[in-house]
Amino acid sequence: SRVRVLGGLRMCGIMGYVGHRSALPILLDGLRRLEYRGYDSAGVAVLNDGHIEVRKTAGKLAQLTEITSGPGLLHGTVGIGHTRWATHGLPTDANAHPHSDCGGRVVVIHNGIIENFLPLKEELQARGHTFRSDTDTEVIAHLIEEELYEARSPSVPLEEAVRRAVQHTRGAYAIVVLCSGQPDRIVAVRQISPLIIGLGKGETILASDIPALLSHTRDVLVIEDGEMAVMTASGATVERLDGATVAKQPLRITWDAEMAEKGGYPHFMLKEIHEQPRALQETMMGRLDAPGGAPELDGVSYSPEFVRGLRKLWITACGTAYHAGLVGRWVVEHWAKVPVEPELASELRYRDALIDPQTLTVAISQSGETADTLAAAREARKRGTRLAAITNVVGSTLSREADDVLYVRAGPEIAVASSKAYITMLVALQMLALDLAVRRGAVTPPQAAHIIQAMKALPGKAQEVLLRESEVASLAARLADREHMFFIGRGLDYAVAQEGSLKLKEISYLHSEALAAGELKHGTLALVTPGVPVFALVTQRHVYEKTLSNIQEVKARGGLVIAVAYDRDTEITKHAEVVLRIPDTLDDLAPVLAIIPLQLFAYHVARERGNDIDQPRNLAKSVTVE
Ligand code: M6R
Repeated sequence: SRVRVLGGLRMCGIMGYVGHRSALPILLDGLRRLEYRGYDSAGVAVLNDGHIEVRKTAGKLAQLTEITSGPGLLHGTVGIGHTRWATHGLPTDANAHPHSDCGGRVVVIHNGIIENFLPLKEELQARGHTFRSDTDTEVIAHLIEEELYEARSPSVPLEEAVRRAVQHTRGAYAIVVLCSGQPDRIVAVRQISPLIIGLGKGETILASDIPALLSHTRDVLVIEDGEMAVMTASGATVERLDGATVAKQPLRITWDAEMAEKGGYPHFMLKEIHEQPRALQETMMGRLDAPGGAPELDGVSYSPEFVRGLRKLWITACGTAYHAGLVGRWVVEHWAKVPVEPELASELRYRDALIDPQTLTVAISQSGETADTLAAAREARKRGTRLAAITNVVGSTLSREADDVLYVRAGPEIAVASSKAYITMLVALQMLALDLAVRRGAVTPPQAAHIIQAMKALPGKAQEVLLRESEVASLAARLADREHMFFIGRGLDYAVAQEGSLKLKEISYLHSEALAAGELKHGTLALVTPGVPVFALVTQRHVYEKTLSNIQEVKARGGLVIAVAYDRDTEITKHAEVVLRIPDTLDDLAPVLAIIPLQLFAYHVARERGNDIDQPRNLAKSVTVE
């Protein structure tokens, strides 16, 4: 059976060991096996002769190995380790995990986000706690410290202190805690971010992902949301955070190491496509909950006067990020009523563009390091624009240079072909558009609330689309030997068509083109001959009839029409030979769902053709040269 371990997307590696062997080499080895997930700092804490030693550093595991080596420096048999991919606070030594309480008696590692960490931090500081990092994680160590050592009974078990502490927090996380006063155990809590416990002989090992455990054991307990595990050398007990006991049967993992890295999927791209519902949740988390319908965008600080005086938005990016920008244009114009000009970064940087201080330039980049995007952003800035970055990588060059930064929180994306970064960029742009719209009074609070409600339903709906993967896979098997395909749509459907076409080219190596549906008859229709596949996106109600007419143009030439349509659309079956369905949503939000069957189609065609899906020929994940 397949155990797919998804979730906690921004988090990187977690390791924990309690047993009879020296913990440090086991922790470092496990973290090394999780390196493929990407990270920017690392650290360990080992219980050494009754007290906790912490070593941590910005940079890679090689640096951590250097600062932990030396005869007997860290020789204890209980410890925890972490590789961090920065979210709150830059990737510095101080922000690396583990984080300690004031007395150095409690250490914590954590994946995910504590949404309400700021008010908690202020309260803890007011009560005299000293913080040493900018992270959200550190509040947990101090909260546990209060439960264990301040005004409470010192004999409270660590698990009880952790339970009480996490009751104060909101968010998505996996938390692992070690305490010098209770040296026989490690306590771990899961709320969305994954945690797996490996059961060995006289030792118990914890990790955020299976590859880190496989060299020690294949018998694992998968911790579920809302559960807490207490690990000792003789095993682990699991209970729910509300105190109810959980009877868990160990699972036997039969994967090889490579499969394990991909969470049981054959390719990172498929894993990342399936991570999208969770990624969407994380993008929105804590940003759409304010009463009154206005988004709360951490990192975005433009003034009300600036927003009111805004004359134009420029959107600049490359590739998939640019396609996200095309969707952004639509929602900003439609909701915020500000004119928007999207321009490819490689063009904008050499254009005599009329960018002035009353404009906002939004540069979009998964990596935040794409050379053309950085150059276009810098060029725009020289002309006095305010610069907003939408990016996935905390501390990336783009994020450092921008005035406003909205992180998409997709988690490390490893496949060259972008999927979850794209979909989270769409939601980030929707949130930005809504923010501008509310601040400019272009939408009323009830209208904003209605949009937000629909946005919050997107993760569940994305999951529904993924459940229909087998239909897409059969279509891919049927069409994988074709050499040309076309994608058509109008408005937002055209923007999605462009991304669907790029995805297909990039990994399947077949030729495809995307066209505004109304443009087909102005030339490209000459290429539509009997049997040529044409994907028609029909989610936009205001141009629905128009796109149906374009579908007729294709059918009249014998083209094979595959529609991407809402579940509620019964009409479309009369026009298309194959219909790939998506759940109903607001038309403005449809791209988030409509792209998923196209991503899956590209993936399955590439697989049928035996291509190297995660590393397609001639392409690189991050294009840092012009
Ligand atoms: O890191 P960036 O978002 O700036 O990258 C931009 C493009 O290179 C990238 O989106 C590229 O088009 C992807 N490989 C498409 O899947």
